[in-house]
Amino acid sequence: MKSISLGTPLSPSATKVMLLGSGELGKEVIIALQRLGVEVIAVDRYEHAPGHQVAHRAHVINMADGATLRALIEKERPHVIVPEIEAIATDMLVQIEQEGLARVIPTARAAKLTMNREGIRRLAAETLGLPTSPYKFANSLEELHSAVASIGYPCIIKPVMSSSGKGQSKVDRSEEVQSAWDCAASGSRVDQGRVIVEGFIPFDYEITQLTVRAVGADGKTETHFCEPIGHVQVQGDYVESWQPMAMSPVALQRSRDIAKKVTDDLGGLGLFGVELFVKGDMVWFSEVSPRPHDTGMVTMCTQRLNEFELHARAILGLPVDTTLRAVGASAVIYGQLEEKGIAFTGVDDAMRVPESDIRLFGKPESFKRRRMGVALANGKDTDEARTRAKLAASKVVPVKA
Ligand SMILES: Nc1ncnc2c1ncn2[C@@H]1O[C@H](COP(=O)(O)OP(=O)(O)OP(=O)(O)O)[C@@H](O)[C@H]1O
Ligand SMILES: [Mg+2]
Repeated sequence: MKSISLGTPLSPSATKVMLLGSGELGKEVIIALQRLGVEVIAVDRYEHAPGHQVAHRAHVINMADGATLRALIEKERPHVIVPEIEAIATDMLVQIEQEGLARVIPTARAAKLTMNREGIRRLAAETLGLPTSPYKFANSLEELHSAVASIGYPCIIKPVMSSSGKGQSKVDRSEEVQSAWDCAASGSRVDQGRVIVEGFIPFDYEITQLTVRAVGADGKTETHFCEPIGHVQVQGDYVESWQPMAMSPVALQRSRDIAKKVTDDLGGLGLFGVELFVKGDMVWFSEVSPRPHDTGMVTMCTQRLNEFELHARAILGLPVDTTLRAVGASAVIYGQLEEKGIAFTGVDDAMRVPESDIRLFGKPESFKRRRMGVALANGKDTDEARTRAKLAASKVVPVKA
C-alpha cells in the first residue's frame, strides 16, 4: 500500500485542507490538522468565525453560491474539502469531485444527501430499509394537514433544510398545525416551503453513534465505532452529552448495524455522527452528520483521540483509534446576551469544579441561545461527570464587556 506523505505548510509541498464552515467544530478539526502540519484554509459566512482564528488563511463568502465557492476553490486549490455545515452549494461540490479538482469529505454525494432531510430519510428508510419514524412530506399548509392526519398525533414538523432544531415543532392537535407551518417557514435555511412530518418516537433515550471510516493497514477502508454518546436536547438543540451511554447489548449491536449500513452507503473517509432513538431493545435511525457532531464535544475529555482528531486522521488516510480513556460529560454554555464582543466571568470558579475544563469558542457575537462554549468533566461514572459538567457550565457568566 502507498504510504501517506504530509507536506510543509506554506511551501509547494503543503497538504492543503479547506474547511467549509468554521464554527466551534471546525475550529477543533483545524487545530487537529495544524498539529499534523497541514495548511488549513477556513471559510465561513461571517468574519472572525472560531475556525478563522486558528487557520492559515480565512475567507468570508456565501458558501451556498456555487460560482463563488468554485472561484475560491480554484484560487486556493485545496487537496481536500471538508464541509462543516450543511448549507453549502453541494451540486458544485459534486461537480468539483467529478472533475477531480479536490477530494470532498466524506463524498460530495454524502454532503448533498444530508443537507436535505428528504434525501437522507428516503435513502435510510426506502433504499436501506432502516427503521425510522413514519414520515411524509408537504409543500403547503393544505398538504401538511393531510400529511399530519395520515401520520397521527403527536408528530414533529421540521423544515427539510434546517439544523439545531430551527423551525421544528411538536404538534399534538390539529389547531397547532398552522403555527407549526409558520414556525417551519421562519426556521428554514432556504425558504423552500417544504416540510417533513415525522411520527413522534417515545424513546427511552437517544444516542449519537460516532462512526469512523478510515484506511486500514491493508489499504482497505475499515469502520470503527466510538462508545455511544447519550444526550439531552431542548427544542431540538443539544444541551448536555455524556459518554459512554449504558445500553443493552442488543440495542448497541442494532445501533452499530444501522450506523454501518448508512455510513457504508455514504462512503468516503471521515467521521460520522449517527443519531439514533432507543426504546428497550428497539432502535430507530433519526439522521446522520457526515462530520463531527456537536454532542461529540464530550470526546475532548473522554477519548484517546477526540472526534476532531479522528476526523483529521481519517480524511488524511491515517489510522485511527477510538479507545475510550475516561468517563465524561459535556454541558453547553449559552450566550444569554444579545451583544457583540462579550466577556465571560466565573471561568476560574468553573475550573475549580473537580476534573473539569472549559472551552470558549471565541464567537464575535452572542445571542441568547447561541452556543458560546462548553464545559467538560470527568467523574467516577457518567452521573458524577454530568453533575460536574453542568455545575462548571453554570459558573461561567456571560457579561457585557
Ligand atoms: N420523530 C421524532 N420523535 C421524537 N423526538 C424527535 C423526533 N425527531 C426529532 N426529535 C427530537 O428533536 C431533536 C432534534 O431533531 P433533529 O436531529 O431531526 O433536528 P436537527 O435540527 O437536525 O438538530 P441537530 O442539527 O441539532 O441534529 C432530536 O434529537 C430529538 O430529541
Ligand atoms: Mg439532529
